[in-house]
Amino acid sequence: MSYETILVETRKNVGLITFNRPEALNALSTTLITELAEALRVMEKTDEIGAIVLTGSEKAFAAGADIKEMQSKSWPDSFVEDFITDGWEQVAACRKPIIAAVSGFALGGGCEIAMMCDFILASETAQFGQPEIKIGVWPGAGGSQRLTRLVGKSKSMEMCLTGRMMDADEAERSGLVSRIIPVADLVEDAVATAQKIASMSRPATMMVKDVVDRAYETTLAEGVRYERRMFQASFGTPDQREGMAAFVEKRKPKFGSD
Ligand code: CAA
Repeated sequence: MSYETILVETRKNVGLITFNRPEALNALSTTLITELAEALRVMEKTDEIGAIVLTGSEKAFAAGADIKEMQSKSWPDSFVEDFITDGWEQVAACRKPIIAAVSGFALGGGCEIAMMCDFILASETAQFGQPEIKIGVWPGAGGSQRLTRLVGKSKSMEMCLTGRMMDADEAERSGLVSRIIPVADLVEDAVATAQKIASMSRPATMMVKDVVDRAYETTLAEGVRYERRMFQASFGTPDQREGMAAFVEKRKPKFGSD
């Protein structure tokens, strides 16, 4: 399948999606979001792929929803078509682990897409922000909620109210980013990290994603209860038998996804 606004590759057991609208700093047009959702759907269905990396260019991961495209939208149009839902939600709904590899600008919808991923690896040039306030609107793809949960109310409120950007160091200190990687190595490192995840037991990685996400969706007591039930369910998988036997026998495990 060929795409107009993204590049899609498979690197061993990892799917790599690169936003490719350099003329617009990877602004997230309807075409780009539709293609992203389609590529994710295909990767979810492809057994060989165990994890996904989403990236942009050195200058921009993505500078937000496409302002030129949405400029003339009316409220009824936006409401009826349920703008910023179709396609966008596919990122958060993907059941395979997704890593965002961010260099340059991750603004507005770009920051929001990065936060929908399971974790963010950033280069030292990364800049995160929710600058919608500067164009008279506010976050629409989950930024007010995910940024607040990730960095706390004070920083999130300041960023959303002023449009201030956060650099990679501050983002790492604040818990938005898991690691900073030199810009030249970012994609390679992200792919290697994803390959490592993809080499683990497939049900285990999908279950980890499911249980960690619960931490954001429910109370602590309910989350812990859910995790425990799911942990108990791991004893129903062949990979649990193999993983534990390999440890006891001092050898490398051979999981179903190998
Ligand atoms: N939508 C459409 N086009 C965009 C864009 C966007 N979000 N961001 C950048 N571009 C375009 C510019 O219009 C420009 O195109 P032209 O050459 O045709 O004029 C090109 O990309 C390069 O951009 P700049 O010349 O502005 O580059 P810069 O280096 O001077 O500035 C920037 C970079 C600070 C990121 C600036 O481009 C900027 O502020 N962009 C908008 C950021 C923004 O407001 N994002 C939020 C969008 S709303 C949103 O995302 C809603 C939501 O929650 C889903």
